[in-house]
Amino acid sequence: MPLRSGGGGISRREFMMSAAAGVAVLGLGMAGLSGCDSQTGGAATVALPYLPYKESALEPYISKKTIEFHYGKHHKAYVDKTVELIKGTHLAGLSLKDIVQKTSGFADKASTFNNAAQAWNHDFYWKSLTPGGGGKPEGELAKRLDADFGSHENLVKELTAGATGQFGSGWAWLVVEEDKLKVVSTSNADTPIIHGQVPLLTIDVWEHAYYLDYQNKRADYVKNVIEHLLNWKFAASNLPAA
Ligand code: FE2
Repeated sequence: MPLRSGGGGISRREFMMSAAAGVAVLGLGMAGLSGCDSQTGGAATVALPYLPYKESALEPYISKKTIEFHYGKHHKAYVDKTVELIKGTHLAGLSLKDIVQKTSGFADKASTFNNAAQAWNHDFYWKSLTPGGGGKPEGELAKRLDADFGSHENLVKELTAGATGQFGSGWAWLVVEEDKLKVVSTSNADTPIIHGQVPLLTIDVWEHAYYLDYQNKRADYVKNVIEHLLNWKFAASNLPAA
């Protein structure tokens, strides 16, 4: 598991205390810390996953300051609230993905769904970005994308439209649905994992993702993310077999 380094945000010690607190709440071992992957074969719990790179690693496209707030404050708050809300319920011990899927559509579980889905979405977002990313995907993913979008340029056009056109807070996603790759947008905490879609990568278009660096210019943030940060290897790793 990559360790975060650099100043600001949450230190390893704070993370371990937070994780230990979550584990203590749930009465579980440390083996099942739940990020965006479904846990199987044992008890799972919910904790803030490690950021897979330094907080400054996405500069100059996303600043260290943005990551400190986005990961260290916003993402952490979703995780902490989820832990608080599932404490003592039948959801305690489930993976984050299971919590999202089991609370979706229940009005009395809306707060748990919103926080858990945001925790899941953010973990997936950090993995969707990488220093030195962007460019064109390769291999099987490139073939599937060309088959369904016609060209890389068309994919970029649709992803850009999905991210810039989403009204208000939300997410743009590249997903697989019924063996077809497509771009979808979701509002607020909504997520493809409750719609029978397999997400390959995502772009967070909540204002907290870009406002410190780009103010109201969401399109500039989206362009830089697509051209310089998208993690196509991560997307390829999520591709189900055809
Ligand atoms: Fe966010």
